[in-house]
Amino acid sequence: MEKFVINGGKPLHGEVTISGAKNAAVAIVAATILCDEPCVLENVPEISDITICMKILSSMGAVVKLVSKNTVYFDTRGITKPEVPYELARSMRASTYFLGTLLGRFHNAYVAMPGGCDLGDRPIDQHLKAFASLGAQHELENGQVHCHADDLIGSQIYFDFNTVGGTINAIMAACKAKGLTIIENAAKEPHIVDLANFLNSMGADIRGAGTDVIKIRGVGYLKGITYGIIPDQIEAGTYMVAAAATKGDVLIKNVIPKHLESITAKLRKVGVTVIENDESVHVKVEGPLLKTSLKTMPHPGFPTDMQPQFSTMLTLAEGTSIVTDDIFDNRFKYVSELRRMGADISVDGTVAVIQGKGMLQGAPVVATDLRAGAALIIAGLAANGTTEVENIHFVERGYECIDKKLRGLGADIKRVIVPDVDHVRMSG
Ligand code: EPU
Repeated sequence: MEKFVINGGKPLHGEVTISGAKNAAVAIVAATILCDEPCVLENVPEISDITICMKILSSMGAVVKLVSKNTVYFDTRGITKPEVPYELARSMRASTYFLGTLLGRFHNAYVAMPGGCDLGDRPIDQHLKAFASLGAQHELENGQVHCHADDLIGSQIYFDFNTVGGTINAIMAACKAKGLTIIENAAKEPHIVDLANFLNSMGADIRGAGTDVIKIRGVGYLKGITYGIIPDQIEAGTYMVAAAATKGDVLIKNVIPKHLESITAKLRKVGVTVIENDESVHVKVEGPLLKTSLKTMPHPGFPTDMQPQFSTMLTLAEGTSIVTDDIFDNRFKYVSELRRMGADISVDGTVAVIQGKGMLQGAPVVATDLRAGAALIIAGLAANGTTEVENIHFVERGYECIDKKLRGLGADIKRVIVPDVDHVRMSG
């Protein structure tokens, strides 16, 4: 196991380049199953969730080859058995995307109930409802969901509420179904648009991605292409907030500023200067950080995946801020760790009240999920003294080379091996 050791209190300065978007990449890599020829993906982030997706594909018989650091070749024609190995599926929420793609290609899919970050109960009823609208049935067999259909027929899918994963799975299952599928109340996140662009470049007929009605006309064949994944909105937002929390001055490159608008608007509200360029944003702090209120919402609202990082920054602001996040049940788990660093936050259900105290102090803390880990790293960068962040495997699910990128901005952050206690005891 490894941990990060951070000597904080130093403003971040310089330039950082954002990697490909995790939540687009996990969908697009799974969608290579629908491609009838080899294809190449560029700007693939080097993160553990993508390593798992690639392992899933190879374990089923696909050829997956690294062309260069962030460019990967996929030939999924060799897949014959539509079953994701149980342990791989369980380790990642996005393994549900293999239900949509395997169903789309084979009309048959076995995928274990997904795992991933523990954000409370994360059912997949809306995904299954979408598959059922297309004519598929499902059963739970030995912990695996088995979806199957004689034929997939285009239909109307109405989501009861906003679901990113449900929308992605519906698009993937429908893109080779017979006839027209209309998805109503679809999610509008940038990664949904990116997935649709990828599939359309291969010959799919998907219109309206990015709005709440998506129309898909099924096609029979998808050709091989080379496609570049969009930059990661949340990674960019995390560096924006890290720059603000440390009162730094950072140019964040390879971003789509439009995807960052809700984060930019909130940062400006708390007194941070954000200058938008064509493909970069410049973040700097020239005065005190101010309190604000914030509620997470589906895109284009403020993303739940930025809530822990932003709330952490608000512990350093002047005054009382109120943050509401009800997208998942459990997105304030990092708060008890942040309290070890002197943060004054009370949580009642989905609402956090943050009394800004202007400073944090270093402490040993434990990441409880991906974005919680990012928040604790930001806290460590801003705090006086030394912070040790354990469970960094969560952070590595979604941030490419975070320690290296932060060192490039002047941070004092080291990766340290934590001895395995049992092993030490046994050998001692
Ligand atoms: N939900 C259901 N039933 C369903 C689907 C969702 O009840 O069938 C509930 C969820 O439990 C949650 C809400 O609906 O309370 C929204 O879930 P959604 O389906 O939108 O989320 P997701 O697809 O599971 C993706 C991202 C998350 C991100 C959310 C919201 C991926 C792989 N994951 O999850 O990303 O927080 O959308 O934007 O795209 C992260 O990157 O840290 C992360 C957790």
